[in-house]
Amino acid sequence: MAEDKTFYITTPIYYVNDIPHIGHAYTTIACDTSARYKRMTGYDVRFLTGTDEHGQKIQAAAQAKGITPQELVDKIHLNFKDLWRVLNISNDDFIRTTEDRHIRVVQAMFKQLIDQGDIYKGTYSGYYCVPDETYVPENAMGPNKTCPDCGRPLTIMEEESYFFRGSKYVPQLIKYYEEHVKAVMPRVRYNEIMSFLRGGVRDQSVSRTSLKWGIPVPGDEKHVIYVWFDALINYASAMGYLDDPEKFRKYWPSVRHMVGKDIIRFHCVTWPLMLLALGLPLPTEIIAHGWWTVDGEKMSKTRGNVVDPFKMVERYGLDPFRYFLLREVPFGNDGDFSELALVGRINSDLANDLGNLLNRTLQMIQSYRNGIVPSCSEPDSELSRMYPEVLSRVDEAMNNYAYDEALKAIWEFIGRANKFIDETMPWKLAKEEGQGERLDFVLLNLYEALRLSALLIAPTMPDTSRRIWAQLGQDGDTLTVQYDSFRWGQGAGTAIKKAEVLFPRIDIEQWKKDREAEKAPAIPEPPHEPEIGIEDFGKVEMRVARILKCEEIPKSKKLYKLEVDLGYEKRTVCSGIKAFFKPDELTGRTVILVTNLKPVKLCGVESNGMILAASVKHDGKAEKLTLLKPADESIPLGSRVS
Ligand code: MSP
Repeated sequence: MAEDKTFYITTPIYYVNDIPHIGHAYTTIACDTSARYKRMTGYDVRFLTGTDEHGQKIQAAAQAKGITPQELVDKIHLNFKDLWRVLNISNDDFIRTTEDRHIRVVQAMFKQLIDQGDIYKGTYSGYYCVPDETYVPENAMGPNKTCPDCGRPLTIMEEESYFFRGSKYVPQLIKYYEEHVKAVMPRVRYNEIMSFLRGGVRDQSVSRTSLKWGIPVPGDEKHVIYVWFDALINYASAMGYLDDPEKFRKYWPSVRHMVGKDIIRFHCVTWPLMLLALGLPLPTEIIAHGWWTVDGEKMSKTRGNVVDPFKMVERYGLDPFRYFLLREVPFGNDGDFSELALVGRINSDLANDLGNLLNRTLQMIQSYRNGIVPSCSEPDSELSRMYPEVLSRVDEAMNNYAYDEALKAIWEFIGRANKFIDETMPWKLAKEEGQGERLDFVLLNLYEALRLSALLIAPTMPDTSRRIWAQLGQDGDTLTVQYDSFRWGQGAGTAIKKAEVLFPRIDIEQWKKDREAEKAPAIPEPPHEPEIGIEDFGKVEMRVARILKCEEIPKSKKLYKLEVDLGYEKRTVCSGIKAFFKPDELTGRTVILVTNLKPVKLCGVESNGMILAASVKHDGKAEKLTLLKPADESIPLGSRVS
């Protein structure tokens, strides 16, 4: 393997507090496909993914659950590891920002920058989005001082802070990008970054005193390092920046970052400025992809339309899902995810085009040539002449991260092979006298087209590629094969295996019925209470509280005795929720408590308040019950709900 053929590709590191969705799956599948492609074209590949585990949201979520942030991230980062296993992701490493190997590098780099005067102390004041952990410049704010990304209200923050003197390196970065126009892809993002840089960049605040859950600033522990400064360094810390300098020197210069378009400034401005200050080579490529909407709408938890990749894989199989994500949208553009479109592609591209080609070809080799691939003296065909052109189109597309173009080229080849069957009509040749050689020629060509297609789809659909390979009677594994060892015409004499259906067709009518049946049944109009005025409502005092303790009441089947904390006082409350929770599921929960109800004695215990819950009732009995809580659990205990 040539020394200079190194390829180091990274996904962003994912916020652990988010449930993995198709957006995350998309970036990682794209990187995986590139990593696999590069391995098959002789590169020494390193592929990194991981989780971003510090910051305000984790701190607040852990607090709400009554556990430490470390305990929380130790548990929830596994959601991502599980997903990557299910999606057949071939990463070589998985970095967590709470690992010691990372923390040491962040602190070393921070210290180096302080020592050389590129990080200095000052005061920072600005509009801050707490959930997103970013200051928002005034010219980028949404209406009524809201966050342009998430739409939530911003708060003014002022704090002593360390600043990174990135501004000093801006001219150098502009020059680098002028000389490397493919360093940021696609072109529209390059232009966006260049005009941003030319507009001038201010020094950035890189520490917080308002936050505890982060990496302490070396020598000044009341500050923690800003979560983005910490997170970006993962790409270097995982590559052995401190622990294995030789490995770092080898792979770092070939680094490629794949990111969503929303985080390009961090990757194309902040990070390269940090690298320039540290005297390290800049990323070879930063590739920005677009965003997925779902059935035409923005994906969000509140809309309830977040697409769960685990569910998609369970329902449609892994490779159809991988294929769809990469085929459906030109890389870099936004795309719309619709299950109906996915089903459409399964039926047409996968079942009809690829599946049928395999089935028809294998069945004909079985019946006309006893399952042995024939040889023939005729060297060329439309298909053999097309193959090198397809290969070079795929190569070019893959080097430009244009996965859709690569797949289009492969499917044109598959389409041509299907047409070749219709044109040559092997079933007729098999019946006609003197057509034996022609039939050999047709069958061998079809076999070769399939053998090479199996290879070409391997980076995108690794399992399917293996399954086709096995049915074709080929030895070994498509994933370890090198493209350049692959030539047309090596298949003659192979004994094929039994044809099996790769992608069963989905009956659209049945599919529609199944989806309808899944939808929640219509809720009948419930009985209502008489109308009240706001003054009546105002009489109910409700406050944010936390359950500290939960005990059984020996005499009661339904009640728990709860100790709740309102911040300003603690109380005992009896709550009829025993059927729905175990005691340890309640401890630590943030809830809403009605605080001015007259105390009552229930089963011998005095209850001082009522916890709010929503429930589904059947014949007056609750069948399903959930406790109400504030959407942002960092709101102080005792806050009034109105
Ligand atoms: N933790 C930061 C990244 C730090 S990298 C040093 C972060 N994490 S994230 O979990 O919020 O997002 C990770 C990636 O998922 C981003 O590249 C983002 O663009 C991508 N996506 C999130 N939602 C998406 C869609 N709806 N569609 C496509 N990708 C999206 O940002």
